[in-house]
Amino acid sequence: MAAIAYVNGRFSPIEQAVVSIEDRGFQFGDGVYEVLRTYGGRLHAMDAHLRRLFRSLEAIELKHHYTSAEIERIIRESVQRAGLVESLIYVQITRGAGKRSKEFPQGVSPTLVITVREMEPRAPALRADGARIMTARDLRWQRCDIKSICLLPNVLVFNRAKAAGFHEAVFVEDDETIAECCSANIFIVKGGRVATPPRSTRILGGVTREEVIALAGKHGVPLEERPVSLAELRGADEVFLTGTTIEVLPVTQVDEQPVGDGKPGPITQRLYEIFLSNALVSA
Ligand code: PDD
Repeated sequence: MAAIAYVNGRFSPIEQAVVSIEDRGFQFGDGVYEVLRTYGGRLHAMDAHLRRLFRSLEAIELKHHYTSAEIERIIRESVQRAGLVESLIYVQITRGAGKRSKEFPQGVSPTLVITVREMEPRAPALRADGARIMTARDLRWQRCDIKSICLLPNVLVFNRAKAAGFHEAVFVEDDETIAECCSANIFIVKGGRVATPPRSTRILGGVTREEVIALAGKHGVPLEERPVSLAELRGADEVFLTGTTIEVLPVTQVDEQPVGDGKPGPITQRLYEIFLSNALVSA
């Protein structure tokens, strides 16, 4: 079995899948997306991803005929057809193909693209050593809560971070609070208490972030959603990131400075174990 693509009703190997050069996703980044994964072959947090997808579609006023149940059915069929051990699923909906114009096109159907690939296990060394993150000014737009495919600022900053030897970058706002990373949410731990920036238009409401917040509550780990300053990030005992592919990933360096003692911390490890066993149990 191999990676496959679905484009507007047709399944094919990924290399053979095509969309029009007039697709508004290609021309304007006029679309939204989701990234999901399986645990034990079962789709994880499907409902939360579908809810966010439909919120994003509404937020960018993308008219479509899809129901949540229909998208779910197509995702499940894609995963089943791919037949992989563990799958990484990308779902993208754009406003469709039409003559290039800023104006929303009339009578055009959205383009639905799904790809399913093997979910590659993250290098155990990164989990053991922790990630190094760089701080960067936030040059993104005002609606980071929408999972838009327009990711140029994220791409540029991510590559600046990579070129400088970091694994990720955290966006810092004008008021010296931190927001999130290029493709992850961020948490700090100080004196046994966890804190993460609150939901706002500055961050994506991560599915993993929500799960970690709920699990921390259930397991008696004190956690607050509140503004977190750059100074607090630099002075934290522990820092970790959350995201669909990285799960709960320790951060052991911010810019040139180690986090705490420079090793992944115990609260991060505990939350990772809780997260993973919950994901595997619900699988
Ligand atoms: N990114 N913040 C940003 C900017 C992201 O791009 C992501 C996920 C997250 C974490 O969200 P979640 O827990 O729902 O995956 C936060 C995906 C994985 C991506 O773009 O590949």
